[in-house]
Amino acid sequence: MLTAIPYFQQHLEHDLNRVNAVVNQAVQSDVALISQIGTYIIGAGGKRLRPILTILSGKCLGYDDDKLYSLAAMVEFIHTSTLLHDDVVDESELRRGRKTANNLFGNAAAVLVGDFLYTRAFQLMVGSGSLKILEVMAEATNIIAEGEVMQLMNIGNVDITEAQYLQVIQYKTAKLFEAAAQVGAILAGATPEQERALKDFGMYIGTAFQIIDDVLDYSGSVEQIGKNVGDDLAEGKPTLPLIYLMQQGSEQAAQDVRTALQNADREYFSKIHQHVTQSDALNYCMKQAQQAVDKAIGSLKALPNNEITQAMQQMAQKSIERAA
Ligand code: IPE
Ligand code: IPE
Ligand code: MG
Ligand code: MG
Repeated sequence: MLTAIPYFQQHLEHDLNRVNAVVNQAVQSDVALISQIGTYIIGAGGKRLRPILTILSGKCLGYDDDKLYSLAAMVEFIHTSTLLHDDVVDESELRRGRKTANNLFGNAAAVLVGDFLYTRAFQLMVGSGSLKILEVMAEATNIIAEGEVMQLMNIGNVDITEAQYLQVIQYKTAKLFEAAAQVGAILAGATPEQERALKDFGMYIGTAFQIIDDVLDYSGSVEQIGKNVGDDLAEGKPTLPLIYLMQQGSEQAAQDVRTALQNADREYFSKIHQHVTQSDALNYCMKQAQQAVDKAIGSLKALPNNEITQAMQQMAQKSIERAA
């Protein structure tokens, strides 16, 4: 996704190698099953967007010490632990093109190894010696948990508003992007304005990213997303394409979506997929995502104009092009 951007062609591999060195060490445990499952999910790849964000935030302000890479690894650990837990909650079977950990090792092992990665992340933070970073991440992880629970409470909710949906995705997803960027800013000794700009950048691209992720659950392919499509509908999750159809689609589409959400069954997928793809729903979602990207790019104005902030601008745009 990022390899089309010249800056990343030059630097990404080197930077991610520095992150992976920390990750590969920190995932080790004397308890063999932990290392096995940890390595399984981390080794499956993933786009590493959040650690990249941490690195770019630090680097755009001239900071490039080892701590940046160790805390970028910390951010990826938090992300990975939320994925392990999320796949249990969502009963997902495929992640990063492989069987999910819950599918292969069972729910109990997936939850517990998620806890290990989560707490290892806090050990990495303590190692940084920054109370402010601990504070930021403690708040972010708390908000993510609230987001996942709010979403759970909205399963099958056909009356959910777009504002409620946006709050859920800001909590469950955008908050970690925001924190990832803020950590880089703090390490770099950013001014309050620069820190705010980097936080906003992360929050807006995280929002755009989750809208697109929700679109891809209908319009993507298994090969493209490395996850099964249709999981959201099977779960009764009211995401933006469906909210659009219920509020602005045809009478028939709105009714079919309500029925599908209330019954939460994969058998409705082909019908709902048709409504989504043959209406304006995807266009609408893309427009909302583009607006968030524009805001992300706008927030970069408060930062130095250099090759890093230019790469961040391109990254923001790319984060939604994966759906096009
Ligand atoms: C998956 O995030 C969870 C969401 C917030 C949609 P990513 O799509 O960034 O997952 P990986 O790390 O690349 O697998
Ligand atoms: C991901 O939510 C958010 C977190 C993991 C906290 P989703 O459930 O929408 O993401 P995928 O589709 O499983 O990656
Ligand atoms: Mg999920
Ligand atoms: Mg989920």
